[in-house]
Amino acid sequence: MAKKLFVKTYGCQMNVYDSARMADALAPHGYVVTDRPEQADLVLLNTCHIREKAAEKVYSELGRLQQLRRRRRDAGGDLLIGVAGCVAQAEGAALVERAPYVDIVVGPQSYHRLPELLQRRARSQGAQLDIDFPLESKFDRLPEERASAPAVSAFLTVQEGCDKFCTFCVVPYTRGAEASRPVAAILAEARRLVAAGAREITLLGQNVNAYRGPGPDGRAWDLARLIRALAGIEALWRIRYTTSHPRDLDDALIAAHGEVEKLMPFLHLPVQSGSDAILEAMNRRHDVDDYRRRVDRLRRARPDIALSSDFIVGFPGESEADFAATLALVEEIGFAQAFSFKYSPRPGTPAAGMRRQIRGEVKDERLQRLQLLLARQNRAFQEATVGRNVAVLLERAGRHPGQLVGRTPHLQAVHVTAPGAAIGELIEVRVTACHAHSLAATPLATMPAPTLEQQPRNPAVCA
Ligand code: 5AD
Ligand code: SF4
Repeated sequence: MAKKLFVKTYGCQMNVYDSARMADALAPHGYVVTDRPEQADLVLLNTCHIREKAAEKVYSELGRLQQLRRRRRDAGGDLLIGVAGCVAQAEGAALVERAPYVDIVVGPQSYHRLPELLQRRARSQGAQLDIDFPLESKFDRLPEERASAPAVSAFLTVQEGCDKFCTFCVVPYTRGAEASRPVAAILAEARRLVAAGAREITLLGQNVNAYRGPGPDGRAWDLARLIRALAGIEALWRIRYTTSHPRDLDDALIAAHGEVEKLMPFLHLPVQSGSDAILEAMNRRHDVDDYRRRVDRLRRARPDIALSSDFIVGFPGESEADFAATLALVEEIGFAQAFSFKYSPRPGTPAAGMRRQIRGEVKDERLQRLQLLLARQNRAFQEATVGRNVAVLLERAGRHPGQLVGRTPHLQAVHVTAPGAAIGELIEVRVTACHAHSLAATPLATMPAPTLEQQPRNPAVCA
């Protein structure tokens, strides 16, 4: 009988992708995915370590799973519990110490070895741990992703790891050094996703625009070249990529934004702070002016591009003047959307040991001020779309009968009731209202499938 696997995903989009690949790795061993943990034979928590609360949530979830397993055993059944992802990598043996009932601990670079770990667990007592950075690439070892779960908007990991070593960040330690997948493997995966129904692909990487993958011509291709090659897949209509580092937003990539219509006019480009002194202490390797210049060039190439960013407030040593500089930069650039966080000392990172850590209340207060400003900009961006016609790629059914949910080129969620329209179609809608996280719209027409010559035009909605 098939065994049931439940994967709970925390954190970033790469974890969403990894969770699907873990299911792929276990499928040949008789595991089918369930969305109900109470029915699962194996529960995997695919974890995130980027900020404090994420790891704490994992530990409370593990506590609940231990209870579930007790009840199962009382009823004569059993449950295996595994921890994957960045908490697994960072905590390693400490995780087993704190939650000794865990069966498997597997890092982000080793999950192709999950079947072997399960076999080892079946043969012996105690948790099985694999947090190596193996020489072989997991991408060469994993089975092809299954066509059974096609998504209109799919993720595809092209690059992993980070060599930037921002002083606040655990990623270089949990995900390891920068590595790029070969172009041919990416194109093949993209074609399979499109054949299974994907119309939009988001290329993923911790530092995606540092992509330098071996091309079929024996040379290293950059992200711009990869995007141009992907744009040649006819039934792929939309391409996005995330997350980028400002330093790697080079001229070739900026030119691609101006020339490749399928490349959507939305870019997540974290700046973290608007103060040069803080950027330096963060080891960001760019200053405010650098960021400003790159955004200017990007906007010249693609005037309707909308920007998103990440911010950290309360980094060690951040003065009121430093924080004011962040607010000023936000005012100046204007972001469609953004994520902002209080600095959280991560064990083993240089900033955790820096003097002049900022008090909790100061962080709270700064975060509140920044979020107020970002929310205002987000609202203005949403409102500017009302009354306009936009192209929406329909991704899933909404909560109400006949309602569908899709996204604009600027990644805004749109709810539309469109009789006769189907998931996977690109339709033109008139935006009628905006809410905090979505737009409401009425359908105008189903757009013909875009051909290579005639790609969807994106109306300018930039604030
Ligand atoms: N504290 C707070 N925020 C952090 N981020 C990364 N590390 C930390 C940390 N130690 C934020 C950054 C990054 C985003 C993914 O998470 O803004 O861009
Ligand atoms: Fe972390 Fe900096 Fe690398 Fe981004 S660029 S993953 S913030 S170290």
